[in-house]
Amino acid sequence: MLSESFISELKARNDIEEVISSYVNVKRRGRNLVGLCPFHSEKTPSFTVYPDSQSFYCFGCGAGGDVVTFVKKIENLDYIEAVKSLAQRAGLAMPEDGYDDSYAKLKTRVLEINRETARFYHQCLISPVGKKALEYLRGRGLSDNTIRRFGLGFAPESWDAVIKHLRGKGFTFDEMAAAAVAVKSARGSYYDQFRGRVIFPIIDIRGNVIAFGGRLMDGQGPKYLNSPDTPVFKKSRNLFALNYAKSSKESALILAEGYMDVVALHQAGFTNAVATLGTALTAEQARMISQYAAEVVIAYDSDGAGQKATNRAINIFGEIGLPVRVLKVQDAKDPDEFIKKFGATRFKMLLEGAGSAMEFEIAKLRAKYDLDSPDGKVGFLKEFAGFMAGIRNPIERDVYVTKTAQELGVAKDPLLVQINYIIRQRAKSDEKKKARDLSVFASGPNERRDPQRMSNLKEALAEERLIGILLKNPDYHGDILGKIRPEDFVTDFNREIFSVISDRLGQNRSVELIALSEQLSEEQMAKVAQVLADSASTRATRKEAMDYVETILAGKNRKSAAEVQQMDREALKDYVAQMAKRKKENIR
Ligand code: CTP
Ligand code: MN
Repeated sequence: MLSESFISELKARNDIEEVISSYVNVKRRGRNLVGLCPFHSEKTPSFTVYPDSQSFYCFGCGAGGDVVTFVKKIENLDYIEAVKSLAQRAGLAMPEDGYDDSYAKLKTRVLEINRETARFYHQCLISPVGKKALEYLRGRGLSDNTIRRFGLGFAPESWDAVIKHLRGKGFTFDEMAAAAVAVKSARGSYYDQFRGRVIFPIIDIRGNVIAFGGRLMDGQGPKYLNSPDTPVFKKSRNLFALNYAKSSKESALILAEGYMDVVALHQAGFTNAVATLGTALTAEQARMISQYAAEVVIAYDSDGAGQKATNRAINIFGEIGLPVRVLKVQDAKDPDEFIKKFGATRFKMLLEGAGSAMEFEIAKLRAKYDLDSPDGKVGFLKEFAGFMAGIRNPIERDVYVTKTAQELGVAKDPLLVQINYIIRQRAKSDEKKKARDLSVFASGPNERRDPQRMSNLKEALAEERLIGILLKNPDYHGDILGKIRPEDFVTDFNREIFSVISDRLGQNRSVELIALSEQLSEEQMAKVAQVLADSASTRATRKEAMDYVETILAGKNRKSAAEVQQMDREALKDYVAQMAKRKKENIR
């Protein structure tokens, strides 16, 4: 366990406002800050930072906690890693003893294995065993320089080439399996994950080899095989070639679909290209791109799947507010093939001519209708009006309406009237929807966390408020703990939180959020942050605390209707008397 003094130093040097602002665009609103939640996708900000209590809470998805919880969640770290990262940020030395760092050690070993494996595969590629693979890559137009720069390799057609090599370097089978360069069979033996494939190492922005993609040159099996998620790799949070693209001078990043596209683009001088890792774009990847670029150019394959993926990506970037342009690869299947067929200069022209996401959408809409027929024209204009009504910026709207009206040879004004009508209609139904959503949200995350809450709402609320009061007024603890014990709590979820807090107070230890995050789960931290958010502007008295204590105790003693029916006469008489007494005490 980390010492109290270390934790308080950590807190003092990592102001939650500063830390969160480096990830999320938050704006001041009164004492607090609000912004779009990084943990779920939303259009209106419900993510709130409370500098007073050094906590955050999202009213949309229920995520919440202290600065450690935030770093844990956003960087996908465990508790001790998050603490380490904050310590590093603040230039604090970590106390060396007293915590389990076996997972951190495993991560280091996995990274060492990955580096060694990448080196081995590259060595194989340029030695006789990789002759065919090297010819294949050269045949696809890659220079030796490019091959070296990307560290491309070849995994020999063998069950144990990598395993043998890594054994010789002192790595264990378990470590190899953790790195996913070896697979454990049902019989308990190990074999190479990649066999007979050209290898694309995946390197993160710190220069670590974190995973591999392997392409089959011919024969049976999936064309690409990618490393599964490992302790150092999560495919939804990484991008191929971002390690190079991040230092490109361009203000835009090019997003392609495949490894080969990216390698070919870099070779042709477009060193700002990246790709996802065999999956569709995620919000996390979009957020990473927005950290390095002022704009993204989507250059997906020209086939139907590529166009579908383009639509999806436009929406994701739209949500995080990164401007998008869409490059249309013509007469070629993908950027790699285009460059090979037409050269880099032509690609540069494509890039420069890439239209905005809006133009892409309008062109797609037009393609759906036969604009030479009156019916087709009407159909298109209706849908176009609906689409334009969704654009918030009136100037932008005007530009596209004017252009489209001109191109179709229709008057612009009636079109604008129609669009404004739709905007008003939508605003009305949005209001209704918002009201509905709010009522759903009000119970969503709470019910998930605490299933007993709804059926014991009165007591659960009292428990939550009591926890809130206790956290803000630790000096009340003598009075409160004299009256109520964790056993008295009605809902299990709040009981556990209360028990941690009362134990700590009993031992005279800190109950600041940052101290609690060591002991509470993510869900429990979120609840605590919510409780603090709810009581942010209220000052609670001892009297109020005692009222909540009474409510909880009364609820605990209240028997269910079924239980009352089961009682014999004597028990029932006792129970009624007890309830009456409580009531009297409450009134007093
Ligand atoms: N992919 C995958 N598994 C497959 C096929 C594709 O993971 N069976 C992923 C790979 O990351 C690949 C990307 O999807 O890079 C795009 O697929 P594709 O367009 O087929 O790949 P290219 O990179 O264009 O590969 P190539 O030109 O070598 O065919
Ligand atoms: Mn291709």
